Amino acid sequence: MKKKIILGIESSCDDTGVAVVEAHSDGSFGVLANSITAQNHTETSGVVPEVAARHHAIAIIPTIEQALQEAKKSLEAIDVIAVTRGPGLIGCLLVGVETAKSIAATRNIPIIGINHMEAHIASTFVDHPQIEFPVVSLLVSGGHTMVVKMNTASDYELLGTTRDDAAGEAFDKVARMLGLPYPGGPEISRIAEGGDAFAYDFPKPMLKDKNYDFSFAGLKTAVLYHIRGKSGGGSIQSKESASLSNQEKADIAASFQESVIQVLVTKVHKAAKEYDAKTVLLGGGVSANKTLQLRLQHVITTELPGTQVVIPSSGLFTDNGAMIAVAAGPRALREEYDKWQEVRVDPRLKIGV
Ligand code: KG4
Ligand code: ZN
Repeated sequence: MKKKIILGIESSCDDTGVAVVEAHSDGSFGVLANSITAQNHTETSGVVPEVAARHHAIAIIPTIEQALQEAKKSLEAIDVIAVTRGPGLIGCLLVGVETAKSIAATRNIPIIGINHMEAHIASTFVDHPQIEFPVVSLLVSGGHTMVVKMNTASDYELLGTTRDDAAGEAFDKVARMLGLPYPGGPEISRIAEGGDAFAYDFPKPMLKDKNYDFSFAGLKTAVLYHIRGKSGGGSIQSKESASLSNQEKADIAASFQESVIQVLVTKVHKAAKEYDAKTVLLGGGVSANKTLQLRLQHVITTELPGTQVVIPSSGLFTDNGAMIAVAAGPRALREEYDKWQEVRVDPRLKIGV
């Protein structure tokens, strides 16, 4: 069996991720190391691009060294370098791409530029190497919300996307309103466990629209006005939630989460039905949300019994180097490389191109 050892490098947002992955010609993968240097943006309640890029510049070489050490491999053993070239924050992407290109050029190692959103899809292939097509994917991260159809492993069709805020961004902003630290998604889901998801009937934007597009800005504003109403006005900062009881906060978090999940699951179910999907795939940081996972599994298995739901295994939800290496697997095995001189960052890189 043919195999390629791939060094995967991810730096598109606020996690420096480096992995060493073995890609096998039977479609299986072995993750030998998946090192992450996470950044802390709690003080600014979000990622400041310039600051994030500087953190990547500091972290990238130590994270590469850590991954190689953990995998017990030297650079000589690496067959291919895979690196995220977009979409993402330009300064952050440049750190990963220029580091990858320097290693590729000086060590004469082939390189492959990777689309970050395609890699979120690929993150599920580690545990599900034999996926059945057509696939309908729901990709939900801090920067993107997408429904993507695939007829084969390399053919992507964007069915719908967000018109304003991404799902993860809405989680982060509502968390901030409730005085919770960044990233807000895990915090909202944590306090939502003690809340009533039907306490407040927040809007479910575009739920009944015929397309597969999303919009979460209005929902976020509805939550803000609700908090203002309860706390008697104030700024958009966490202060205004200070007068809310913990139970009220939990109810707001659970009801907000319910609105987002209802919209996401309804739309992906509709797409899976329309396109006779054999597989519904969930990817991106928000896919770590247990309530979303369970609801998606429940709706698809009851409404579309012939359709399998695949979800990344833990450690592969949020940004990481392994998903970048896995996404490069098929091309690495076919030895379809890029010229290092031609690997360019594209902050707005579209899926499927
Ligand atoms: O994919 P990712 O790591 O980075 C981007 O490509 O954007 O996604 C990060 C996003 C953040 O907005 C974070 O709040 C959200 O994923 N997230 C969650 C959960 N864990 C992370 N959102 C909801 N529930 C979670 N458990
Ligand atoms: Zn991501």
